[in-house]
Amino acid sequence: MNKQDEWHNNPIGVFDSGVGGLTVAREIMRQLPNERIVYFGDTARVPYGSKSKETVTRFSRQIVHFLETQDVKAIVVACNTVSAYALEELEKEVDIPMIGVVKPGVRAALDATVNKKIGVICTEATMNSGIYSRYIQENDSSVKILGKACPLFVPLVEEGLWEDPVTDEIARRYLTELVDSGIDTLILGCTHYPMLRSTVRKIMGESVTLVNPAYETARELKALLADKGLESEHRPELGTELYRFYVSDAADKFQRFANSILTYGILSAKVIRIDEF
Ligand code: DGL
Repeated sequence: MNKQDEWHNNPIGVFDSGVGGLTVAREIMRQLPNERIVYFGDTARVPYGSKSKETVTRFSRQIVHFLETQDVKAIVVACNTVSAYALEELEKEVDIPMIGVVKPGVRAALDATVNKKIGVICTEATMNSGIYSRYIQENDSSVKILGKACPLFVPLVEEGLWEDPVTDEIARRYLTELVDSGIDTLILGCTHYPMLRSTVRKIMGESVTLVNPAYETARELKALLADKGLESEHRPELGTELYRFYVSDAADKFQRFANSILTYGILSAKVIRIDEF
């Protein structure tokens, strides 16, 4: 059998600025257990959310080039900031099918809302791009959208302060206006934020539906693979590496983090020089 015939058994590339994309990788592992994953976290250059479109696009292009060297059959941009700033451009540059997390999140939120008031919390970059408002309005122009950038959330997550009085205090400052606004649905519009879910839940209350786009993204990936005939036929045999992790810095820290949120045993992460791609 030649290489092309086996292409559907190749891995999925998943990337983020850091650890946030692991919330998406976790969902892909759960929903698509036959699929192998190559994950890249740009731990040397996180956060992306306070950087310009040009910089985020340049960084993301390097990551896509790296993933191409890993022969990935599809790429999941597990980062809202990249999905907002760079995905459209990158899609035009490579032949590999790509999906982001914004459209799936919007779909899930539109399904969930009853009063048609949706909140979005995200990075400053995602907020400035206006992408959530654009996609929501394109689907239903009667929906009211309230966006709020929460720039301190990413460093708090990267530092492991998921449940901490400091995080509570900062979250309260960011979220109070959303509580008062009467939204019934809140999109966690940054892949780091599902780690702060219980803090956000405490402040927003039980009546607000929290949307984590990861679930819908994995479903969309499944449909895309089926559509393109790219589904892996069987779970890779014991001994073949199911999941591989790469970072641009601080592999130990990443490893500890990954082990605390993934249920797939001891992982090791390898450092690569991403600026060489
Ligand atoms: N996790 C990313 C996102 O979904 C990026 C966070 C950051 O690097 O600022 O936007």
